[in-house]
Amino acid sequence: MLKKDRVPYILVVDDSTSVRLIIGDMLKKAGYEVGFAVDGISALESLQTRKPDLIILDIMMPRMDGVELCQRLKSKEETSHIPVIFLTSQNKQETVIKGFESGAVDYVFKQCSHVELLARVNTHLELKRTKEQLIKENAEQKELLHVLCHDLVNPLGAINNLLTLSRKKSNEWLADRREKLLQITQHGLNVIELIRKLRYLEEKEGGLILTKVNLKQAIDESYLILRQQFNQKEIEFDYTIDESLNVQVEKTTFINSVLNNILTNAIKFSHPKSRIIISSHATDDSVVLTVRDYGIGMPSIILDNLFIIGKGRSRTGTAGERGTGFGMPLMKNFMTAYGGSIEIWSQEASESNKNHGTKVKLILKRM
Ligand SMILES: Nc1ncnc2c1ncn2[C@@H]1O[C@H](COP(=O)(O)OP(=O)(O)OP(=O)(O)O)[C@@H](O)[C@H]1O
Ligand SMILES: [Mg+2]
Repeated sequence: MLKKDRVPYILVVDDSTSVRLIIGDMLKKAGYEVGFAVDGISALESLQTRKPDLIILDIMMPRMDGVELCQRLKSKEETSHIPVIFLTSQNKQETVIKGFESGAVDYVFKQCSHVELLARVNTHLELKRTKEQLIKENAEQKELLHVLCHDLVNPLGAINNLLTLSRKKSNEWLADRREKLLQITQHGLNVIELIRKLRYLEEKEGGLILTKVNLKQAIDESYLILRQQFNQKEIEFDYTIDESLNVQVEKTTFINSVLNNILTNAIKFSHPKSRIIISSHATDDSVVLTVRDYGIGMPSIILDNLFIIGKGRSRTGTAGERGTGFGMPLMKNFMTAYGGSIEIWSQEASESNKNHGTKVKLILKRM
């Protein structure tokens, strides 16, 4: 039996009652859950309600035979990953070739021993499980890479800006900014450390560790990293946040993935000399943080797909700033992990619309 929490479900498709009984009995005794269908058409019907982990399929059947059913399964995305093992008679070996051509992974003779059938079933279930695990791990690795690239851009950009400016300035000027540079460098290191931890936690099936974070201080730190970007566009930044407000988040991601992304978006999609305002509103158990910009806003096609990676939402900013388009989907994942949520309102700028811009509301747990 496989090491797996859920009992694998196997669909046996054969028009012969005795074959269904014998094979079904054998699989049940081995601890599997078993479903039955008498031909291809009824198998397709049963697949509508439940997808099996593996299908054992007779080749010769009335109405729709095994080869046709297998071809149909392999042509559909939602069923193409289900391994199919063909059942065949000893004297019909030529049909085995047809079976493989239609996409089956293996075949067994109807007269084969229980041991052989079970060994093959186990092997293919294990292969399927390993493949699914690899796909999941690959997706997780990609996400970590996205966080790493996305969140290192701002601290590195800030350091680069300050050092570039320092070329034309005195040593004292640079010395005055040493603490700032150290703080910003620390943010970059925090991001790298976080990715290390997340990898470790993922291996252990864990998650983010949430703590109590002071909201005003988090915004101060985000502003420290983004100050140059505000200055370059001469954007007025106004935030009066009650210093006593604490929220439940993971600090590094809250500053580098959530706040920095909302603010860089607000800057990117605002024209020079515009305004960005942060305000907060608290109840006993939650804090709503609103970031309002008076920029170009979003058309509904972007707004509707804002949290989906790869939906062509990424535009260049009003000064040609580039992005990767990962910010919002990552941010949403983190907000969900904090037990919070996010709401967006946006109006596109046009000649007749003076009330344009974007409002991002973060609903966070108060601590
Ligand atoms: N405040 C905003 N005003 C106008 N458009 C916005 C705003 N925030 C997001 N958008 C739109 O949503 C898109 C996706 O934002 P997201 O943060 O996911 O990616 P990005 O900013 O393009 O790239 P990255 O975050 O990797 O730098 C943006 O490219 C932009 O088209
Ligand atoms: Mg962004």
